[in-house]
Amino acid sequence: MTRTHIPVLAGELIDLTGPSEGDRVVDCTFGAGGHARLVAERIGPSGTLVCVDRDPDAEEHFEELAAEVACQTRFLRMDYTEALALLAEEGFTADLVYFDLGVSSMQIDTRERGFSYSYDAPLDMRMDPGQELDARTVVNTMEERQLAKVLSTYGEERNAKIIAREIARRRTKAPIETTGELVAAVEAALPAAVRRRFGGSSPAKRVFQAIRIVVNDELDDLDRALPVAWSILDDGGRLAAISFHSLEDRRVKRFLADRTRGCICPPDLPVCRCGRTPEAELITRRSVVATPGEVAHNPRSGSARLRAARRLAAGEES
Ligand SMILES: C[S@@+](CC[C@H](N)C(=O)[O-])C[C@H]1O[C@@H](n2cnc3c(N)ncnc32)[C@H](O)[C@@H]1O
Repeated sequence: MTRTHIPVLAGELIDLTGPSEGDRVVDCTFGAGGHARLVAERIGPSGTLVCVDRDPDAEEHFEELAAEVACQTRFLRMDYTEALALLAEEGFTADLVYFDLGVSSMQIDTRERGFSYSYDAPLDMRMDPGQELDARTVVNTMEERQLAKVLSTYGEERNAKIIAREIARRRTKAPIETTGELVAAVEAALPAAVRRRFGGSSPAKRVFQAIRIVVNDELDDLDRALPVAWSILDDGGRLAAISFHSLEDRRVKRFLADRTRGCICPPDLPVCRCGRTPEAELITRRSVVATPGEVAHNPRSGSARLRAARRLAAGEES
């Protein structure tokens, strides 16, 4: 099986989170295992690497990796929140848990998965093909106002209202079945002057991002997963996430910042009553971005942001 996904910020992830001999690591978004392979080399034969992905195609990449690396390996084909909860239930503790969020290049480039506005294919966009909700259902059944809200919030699409209106208009005549039909609806909704502003890129990009986020429940899932990931970290364990748009990055940033906060008593209280102490030390004060060299080699890395923090032991000062 050929691997076509180039791991993003891979050197930075390894350098900043420092996996070492014997570590127990969870890769929550295995994909083609680009990051996992580097981690496996670092943790060696005494290390354990748990790989998670809800896409069955990732499991094939995992089989290849498992045959080649020396560490203990395990694959959990499920949603990462469920996988982390399962590990917590089993009493598994980790030195490193990381997320490389979003979709893989294999998912985007496999026409029939329906993730891409560049190919005409059935509207699908499910990371887990066994899941019921797909893009066709979202596009054809979501109420127009809700659809506009989704496009505006998850796609940060300024023309959300007119695009939602055009989608709603078209689907009363016949359901929108394909990615090509969705692109056509977006293009028809936008005035020519707006369309021209996109130059060579597709005006449907943000709409596709928004629909994909809904289909895969990406943001709520991240909110659910981060606390569970944090709960399985050992003292000194590291949590890292690579995100690809501001909606994800904001969630990661806020979650990690909250863990670094100590006393939350009102400032006029003479002594602390809350007893809260920081649980985390930030490894990255600001998000880490790809170098110009990486972006030139892999344009997808252009929007990537890496954040990481270390779990403090009880009583340890940051
Ligand atoms: C950007 S790719 C990861 C690429 C990987 N780091 C590599 O180097 O090949 C993201 C992967 O995470 C998976 N994924 C996204 N959200 C998930 C979730 N909630 N649960 C499980 N897997 C998820 C996707 O199916 C996809 O394969």
